[in-house]
Amino acid sequence: MKYIIANWKMAPANKERAEGLFNAIIQETRSAPSGLQIIVCPPFVWIPLAREILSYTGRFALGAQDLAMNAQGAFTGEISASMLASLGVTHVIVGHSERRALGESNDIVLAKLKTALGSGLSPILCVGEQTREGDWHTFLRTQIDSALMALAPNDAKKLIVAYEPVWAIGGQEPDTPDSALTSIILIRKITRERFGDSIARTIPILYGGSVLPETVGPFVAQEGIDGVLVGRASMDAGAFSLVVRAFASSDRS
Ligand code: PGA
Repeated sequence: MKYIIANWKMAPANKERAEGLFNAIIQETRSAPSGLQIIVCPPFVWIPLAREILSYTGRFALGAQDLAMNAQGAFTGEISASMLASLGVTHVIVGHSERRALGESNDIVLAKLKTALGSGLSPILCVGEQTREGDWHTFLRTQIDSALMALAPNDAKKLIVAYEPVWAIGGQEPDTPDSALTSIILIRKITRERFGDSIARTIPILYGGSVLPETVGPFVAQEGIDGVLVGRASMDAGAFSLVVRAFASSDRS
């Protein structure tokens, strides 16, 4: 199974546009291969609309971009895991660098992972270094170790990891597929140390950061990369369909 995660960030700007994008994506991805799981992560407010429009196709899973770290309580403005689950959400992004930049620590990421799992959601854990200067491998290892340390092997079966070097997000230049693969191999090694080989094998590890129609090809071709997390290119149905088609034309999907 290969994965494409669409992270719509803070878009579209209004309900009409959101409806337009959902419908266009359904049209454009009709021929998506069956071995490809597409997980659409709209902003919270468009989730009911997304469910209504996307779910009847049976082609998409619904994800959220964040969740509260507490399962319940007086937390103004927060959205709980159980609220998401009750709307048909099955996946949730945890620890995206744009959330970490707003102050989300490794401890908060861990709490959110546990809360998501507690409500039966599959967390999409985002990790990635800020820069390639200094001992960035140790930085990456700490991020992953601290996120995985309290997870039970059974929890790990629900996990998806997205390796997203922060410097590659929102630009034009992704990491090279070879260098992304080196980081993915490190992540795989840590999951193996933590959960054992047979469970580690089941954890999809994706690449994200400037995945665009013109950059996606080599990532699809890279055997050790299980899919992509797409930001900007997922907010444009035409661009998104080209990303999907890159998987359709690959032998491995
Ligand atoms: P981008 O965003 O594809 O626009 O670089 C990636 C992301 O949301 O992490």
